[in-house]
This record gives sequence, C-alpha cells and structure tokens, in this order.
Amino acid sequence: QTIYLKDYQVPDYLIHTVELNFTLDERRTQVVSRLSLARNPNSQSSETALVLAGENLKLIRIVLNDDQELTEADYHITPESLIIHDVPQQRPFTLNIENEINPKANTALEGLYLSNGMLCTQCEAEGFRKITYFLDRPDVMAKFTTTLVGDKDRYPILLSNGNLIAQGDDDNNRHWVTWEDPFSKPCYLFALVAGQLECLEDSFTTLSGRKVGLQIFVEQHDIDKCGHAMQSLKNAMAWDEQVYGREYDLDLYMIVAVSHFNMGAMENKGLNIFNTKFVLARPDTATDSDYEHIEGVIGHEYFHNWTGNRITCRDWFQLSLKEGFTVFRDQEFSGDRSSKAVKRIEDVNMLRTRQFAEDAGPLAHPIRPDAYIEINNFYTLTVYEKGAEVVRMLHTLLGSEGFRKGCDCYFQRHDGQAVTCDDFVSAMEAANGRDLNQFRRWYSQAGTPVIHVIENYRTDEKTLALTIKQHCAPTPGQPAKELLHIPITVGLLDKQGNAIPCNLQESATGNYEVILQLTAAEQTFTFTGLAEKPVASILRNFSAPVKLTMERSLDELAFLLSYDSDTFNRWEAGQQLVGQVITGLIVDSQQGRPLNLPPIIIDAFKRVLSQSWEDLSYFSLLLSLPSEGYLAEQMQVVDVEAIHKAREFVVRTLAEQLQPELEALYLDNHRDESGQFDAGAIGRRRIKNVSLSFLSRLGNEKVQQWSTQQFNTANNMTDQIAALANIVNYPHPAKQECLTLFYQKWQQEALVIDKWFAIQASSPMPDAFATVVSLTAHPAFDLGTPNRVRAVIGSFTQANSLHFHAVNGQGYEFLANHVIALDILNPQVASRMLGPLTSWRRFDPTRQNLMKTQLERVMNSPSISRDVYEVASKSLM
Ligand code: ARG
Ligand code: ZN
Repeated sequence: QTIYLKDYQVPDYLIHTVELNFTLDERRTQVVSRLSLARNPNSQSSETALVLAGENLKLIRIVLNDDQELTEADYHITPESLIIHDVPQQRPFTLNIENEINPKANTALEGLYLSNGMLCTQCEAEGFRKITYFLDRPDVMAKFTTTLVGDKDRYPILLSNGNLIAQGDDDNNRHWVTWEDPFSKPCYLFALVAGQLECLEDSFTTLSGRKVGLQIFVEQHDIDKCGHAMQSLKNAMAWDEQVYGREYDLDLYMIVAVSHFNMGAMENKGLNIFNTKFVLARPDTATDSDYEHIEGVIGHEYFHNWTGNRITCRDWFQLSLKEGFTVFRDQEFSGDRSSKAVKRIEDVNMLRTRQFAEDAGPLAHPIRPDAYIEINNFYTLTVYEKGAEVVRMLHTLLGSEGFRKGCDCYFQRHDGQAVTCDDFVSAMEAANGRDLNQFRRWYSQAGTPVIHVIENYRTDEKTLALTIKQHCAPTPGQPAKELLHIPITVGLLDKQGNAIPCNLQESATGNYEVILQLTAAEQTFTFTGLAEKPVASILRNFSAPVKLTMERSLDELAFLLSYDSDTFNRWEAGQQLVGQVITGLIVDSQQGRPLNLPPIIIDAFKRVLSQSWEDLSYFSLLLSLPSEGYLAEQMQVVDVEAIHKAREFVVRTLAEQLQPELEALYLDNHRDESGQFDAGAIGRRRIKNVSLSFLSRLGNEKVQQWSTQQFNTANNMTDQIAALANIVNYPHPAKQECLTLFYQKWQQEALVIDKWFAIQASSPMPDAFATVVSLTAHPAFDLGTPNRVRAVIGSFTQANSLHFHAVNGQGYEFLANHVIALDILNPQVASRMLGPLTSWRRFDPTRQNLMKTQLERVMNSPSISRDVYEVASKSLM
C-alpha cells in the first residue's frame, strides 16, 4: 500500500498530554498509557471514529474518561490499528490504555527491544506504535510524563526524556523513576532505556549561563571509551551557540550507547540513543576516522535539538527538512573542527559515488519524496546528503549572513511546530527578500542534473564567454524535468596560476570569485578585461550537486592541480586527470591492449610530492586515486574487472616510479604519536599509511616487513588496521598469523572485531568469496547484530565489487540468501543490504540476468516484509 504526499490531511484528533507507565520485563513489559485527547478543530473529515496506530500489541484494557471501560463492541482491532467507534466530539476526553509487549521477541530493533540485556527504544519513524496505541505521526505533538518500574538489579538505571522529577522504591526489589519532558514532541522522539549502565558525567554552561548536566551511559566494560564523545558533545554545544545562536533547552543531556542498532544514532529529546560505533573510542581501539565520525554524529544528533525536535516535520515526506538541514550543520561543524577542505572532499566523494548512483537508479526520488510504501526505506543518501547539498546551495546563494537571517526567521516563526520543507524555504525568502520559487524545484525533482560548459575566448574583445547548459535525464515517474536554479561558483587563473578578477559584462565587481546563477536551459556568462586566455575554475567547492562536463586537456587539469586556490577544485583537477587516464586504460584493458601510464600523471604526482604541505590530510587526498565506485559511476556499462585492473595498474606503476619518494614519506612520518589527535598527528598517520598502501603493491620484502612491524608495534588502531589491511589485501607471508593475533587480542571488543570482519570481506585477493562464506559461519558472526551484518555482508557487497560481481553469480546468490534470512528477523537492515542488487541495469547482460534472478527469488520468498518488497519490486519495474 502506497502513501502519497498529496493525500496529506491534518489529524482528526490531537493528543495534549501522555502519561506512560512501564513495568519492565524482558518478555512481558506492561504499558499503561493515559492520553488526554480532543477532536482537532482543524479536521475537515466527517469520520468520527478514533483510529490509533498499534502493531504487535496485546491489548489488556481501555477506559474512557476514567470511568467507562470499553467492551469489544466499542472498538475494533486490526493488525495495524485500534479503532474506537465513538468518542466525545465536543469536549476533551481521556483514554487509559493497557497493553503488553515482548521486547525479547523484537528482533526488528524497532519499538522497545533488548540489546545485551539492556532495554532500549527506537521510535523513528513509526516504532512508537509497537509500544502502545497512539496517533503515531509527527504532527501530533504532546507532553510526555514517563514512569519506569523495574527490578533494581537488572535495571538499576531507568531513563526517559526530559527531567527526572520523582523516584522511589517498591517491594519485590523494585524501584521506579518518573521523567517529565516539558517540551511537546511527536512520539517518534520518545525514548526509554533501562539496564546496568555506567555513566560518564560532565557539564556545559550555556551562553546565557545555565548549567547543563551531560551524561554518557554505556555498558560497564566500555566506560573507558567515552571521553571523546563527551568532548565532542561540548564542542557541538558551543558551536551551535556561536554559529546559529542556539542554546540547549533542558537541564540534562543524556546519550546511551547500544550494541544493537539499525542506524547510526537517534536524536530522542534529551536522551539520544547511539550505535556504540558512534560513541566508543580509545586510541588503541578506534581509528582517526572513527574519532571524526563520532564527533560528526554526536554533533548531528545534538543539532537536531533545534532542527528536528523544537521544529519538527509535519509528515514523513518532509524528512529532509530536518535531515538535510542537520547534515549540512554537522558537515560545517566537522569542517570547522578539522579541515574544511578535507571534509568537503569526503562529503562530495560520498555524494558522487553513492547518492549519484541512487539518483540514477530505479529507486531515484526527490529529496522530498511524493510516495512511499515503507518510510524506513527513505532514510536515504538522497534525503540526507543531497538534502544537505540543497541547504548548502541556499547558503551559497544567500551568503552566510543571509542564510543566518533566514535560519533565525525559521526558528522564530516555527518554534514548537511541525512544518514543511516549503516553510523553510519561505523563511529564507522572507528574511532575504528573495524569490526562491525556481529553487524549490530541487525539493520535488529527482535525478542528477548535468551541466555542460563551453568556453569561448576572444582575443579582440579580451573576453571569455562561458556557455552553460543544464539537463536532467528522466527518472522513474518523472519523464520530463523542469529547469533548476543552480549556483555555479567560478574563479579565473592567469598563465602563472594567479587569481584574476572575474568581471562579468553586466556587473564588474572586481571580485576574485563569482557565483553564476544558472536558471535557463542555456545561458552565456561573459567575463571582460582578459588580455590573455585565463584558465577557468568552475563549480568551486562543488557549489551544486551536479555532474559537470567540459572539454579539458590533461595539461589544463595538471595546471589546475598545481595552482587552483580553491582546495576542492584543486583536488578535483587531480581526480579528473587520473580519472581520464584510467578511463582510457579501462578501454585498453577491455580490448586487450597493453597498458601504459602517460608521463603527465607521474609528473603531476611528482609535483604534488615535491611540495611542502601544511594540511597533511589534504595532501593524502591529493595522492589518492578515484575509487573503483566512482570510476564505475563514469561508465556506460560497469566492468568491475577492467576497472580494478586499470586502477591497480596505475597505483602499481606510480608506486614503482615514485618508490624513493613514497618510502621517504613513509619513514619521515612514521613515529608513535598514539593518543594525539591534532591535525598534525592525524595527517602524519594518513600520509604514512597512504604511502604504505602504494608501496604494498610492489610485493617486496622490505615493505612487507614494514607492514608486519607496524602491525605488531602500533599503539593506535589507525596504524594497526592500516597495516593489517595491506597484509590482507596483497600477498603477505604472515597474513594468517596476523589475522589470528588480531582476533585474539581484540575478541572482547565488538567494534574492533567488526573491522577484522570488514577487512577480510573487502579484500581483492582471489580467495575473498570463500573467506566471506567462512566468515558467515564464524562463531562471532550474528545476523541479529546489525553492525556485524554490515561488517561482513555490507563490506563484501558494497566495498568489494570485484568479487561481489563475480560473473558466475555466486556473490548475488550469497546476498539474496542472507537478505531472505535477515528479512525474517530485521526487515530494515535486510532492505538496506539488498541495495547492491538494485543497480542491475548498470551491468552487462549476463550479470543483469543473474542479478534479476536473485531479486526475483527475494521477491518470491514467503512472508517478505514491506521494506524488502518495496525495494525489490521497484528495482525490477
Ligand atoms: N533521525 C536519525 C538521524 O538521522 C535516524 C533515524 C533513522 N531511523 C530509521 N528507523 N530509519 O539522526
Ligand atoms: Zn538525523
């Protein structure tokens, strides 16, 4: 059953307050819910029945207005709802509902469930209906008071949203705690946690001088891994005050880390629940990237307090209102905390390899979708990452000050409300006196626009004309596309590589950078006063989520790689340069010609290597080749073998040609700075490990020993796992020994063991498939733990194209088997894992058939979930 945005109607009833009482038990938790309701005066409907959502609930009793117990004649229960035929229409009323749930049986990890003996919840998007009957939609906002009753030994810690207002002891070794959340919220932001937890405490004093208690709860053995998360939280709180003028609003902010979690984390009001992966870090267990991701996700969930919680979504089609905006906020936060240049490149890399693929595939949808079967399938790269790019374009178009004014207007207008993406754009318009009507199409149109640029320099007029065209190919359900409003940031360089003023014919500002506003199918922008032909740097900082096409010579790209002052475009020039060459080599390889690396590539790398770099992380990115995934995106028909072969040829040749430089780089930066996380130390580890990875392709004994040595002596996970990756990915005599050692050393640390699984599952070595099969039989493999599933099945199918797409189809069959098994336990994770099969149209006919066969098998599996059905069926359409 499909839900459409166009069918949106306001709720027929509103809930003003909710009092929840939980008597906690692994198998039988009792829920008593007291709702105060009233007919919504804005409801247009003539329907008077009250329809509450509820799934897998055992109903015990319903009492209306405290005195009228309802009988079976008064209501009707369906698998998804409770319909009460007759409720007061003219005045408020109360309902007391009692029901029972079984957290232990809840393997879908949605609603109330068990993780290592701890009870916890995940309610977004529609999990609250698995806890009790409710109006489970984000435009119904209520004040929650929650009492938790539980055994003192099993559940010494009892948490819910808001402030703790009362607690006490009961008999039978039980105790209780009452929490009150003073802010109205939709039920998707409800949370409870109960268990044996340790807590790290700290505090933060807000701009206006309020002291907020900060608490991070984890399982006992993880209490030594919370420091970084706590510091990240404080950084995020200070950043939101400085950049957006937003303060925290409760006296307490709690974070709980759980081992079983479908996604990254959840912004429940005052009580965030996190995947342990985004909380726990110690220098010896977490890599530098893990540290950065933790800070990013802690920031993300914190920022939701204003963009998501205080102002929430009217309906789930508006998901990008909170997610796109909050991702943009967390990206900027991370950029400010580390390196803006590096963060931007990482974000664009992910967008271009994964979101562009989604936008070009059978599941393409606008950032504000207009239909869905299962909303959990729409927590996508499009809604999140492209959504963030759309917010970023507003920032670019309005400038930081204009953007901030727009945000202030949005917060002021809509605090306490459930609103739409359109309301957000309207606030931006109102605060800036701008018309963003054409821009709004970014919210309703799917697909990645292609921007084509043609240059025309005229010596006689001293002008450079850029003719820019936009085009967007059809996507499912959208055969014809409208023209978009696209900001294109441009700079000009002279022959020496210096920036020169960009004076447009109609408005000469003398600025060194200009934002072109592309609104038509084709537009020409003319720059004047150019005595010689400049080199144009176009789409600086990736100012719009588009594919840019333009004739560029290898020389021009090499020039930009040397001189562009825009850090994004400088890196991008290098990617294009190498990308063009690899693309040529792919064709050579397909046609059986010998492979040759043009000297311009080696020279370009030599030049990069010979410069002195302050930001070593950025330097490492300049030395990194486009990924196999990115290269696949560029091909008409993806040929995983040719891509792998051509790319590996380039890496190996560079390693051969630049061996002395790379060895020096390795040795110069190899020092033990474990526990140091400043940009310098992180950068040195990055550049050292990039060098080691190049050199590992040479298969020489010296480098093998460097890896073994680094593996054995590293006191930080960045260096240890980087060494192990090289040992596993290329022939190495100590491979089995190192893998065994690593497993023994870390078997108590689930997150580290996930890395051990992931590295083997993504190895290009010929025995990778056999290894993956044996890993799924390993005692530590568990379909009930999403992180483990992602580490093994996710890594193999998403980070090991070479073997997943083996032409005998074994990879496809393997994935389908696991999706079918997983779907019975956890539809959300099963549906995500299915992703790689949905891109079958991108491959050759043999693989297409093999992939489709497996998709059909999945479709025909009995008791298929809505989640998996939607993805499988839409991808076969
Ligand atoms: N709102 C959460 C976040 O992005 C994600 C929750 C996703 N949950 C889900 N069931 N799809 O921070
Ligand atoms: Zn979010």
